[in-house]
Amino acid sequence: MSTIAIDGPGSSGKSSVGERVARELGYAFLDTGLLYRAVTAAAIRGGAMSDPAAILALAHATHVNLEQRPVHLLVGDQEFQPGELESAEVERAVPRVAALPDVRAALRGVQRSAADSGNAVLAGRDIGTVVLPEATWKFFLDASAESRGERRSRQRGYALGSPEHASIVADLSARDYDDRNRSVAPLVAASDARIIVTDQMTLEEVVAEIISVVQGR
Ligand code: C5P
Repeated sequence: MSTIAIDGPGSSGKSSVGERVARELGYAFLDTGLLYRAVTAAAIRGGAMSDPAAILALAHATHVNLEQRPVHLLVGDQEFQPGELESAEVERAVPRVAALPDVRAALRGVQRSAADSGNAVLAGRDIGTVVLPEATWKFFLDASAESRGERRSRQRGYALGSPEHASIVADLSARDYDDRNRSVAPLVAASDARIIVTDQMTLEEVVAEIISVVQGR
């Protein structure tokens, strides 16, 4: 059984790259940010954002099934609408959930069992360092906040230079700061990860680099 860890900051391309790499290799794919986003969305729905015990209960009730496409994600019996997990409200609140050590431990179990089900690519912030320190291959995608902001604005149809674009860059930088500076499992490249700086690369080039490493070319 082989596992590929792809870590990196928000909008570094790890989800699109991870999904494509998984498809080409016939591996399962889990974008682990979705777990943190789902717990956050459920906490917002339940008015529980200031109740760490309630947030932990939601993390314990989180289930993911990688055999279904798109991946099937449940928090208790709650499902999520497309777009709900990407809302600005969830994005602003998710670092607070991701900084809770017990929540991270609960979601670590969910991520490990998902990876145990077969060959898998997991994308996240701490896959190579904490979730799968024994991953077969580890990659860390990095890019400046500006180019990540541009990528996200294009995905969402906002003009570069628009107020929406400026707010995306500001939100990404704030989330990076929180992710890199939290005391538990901060965003950092594993010492044995291959670092790929994606500013000047297309998605296809990043995918090709990862596939060539995995196939030993
Ligand atoms: O990758 P994505 O932007 O969807 O992640 C959302 C948030 O979830 C991140 O900002 C981070 O706070 C948290 N996260 C994490 N560990 C992971 C994946 C995501 O802390 N493995």
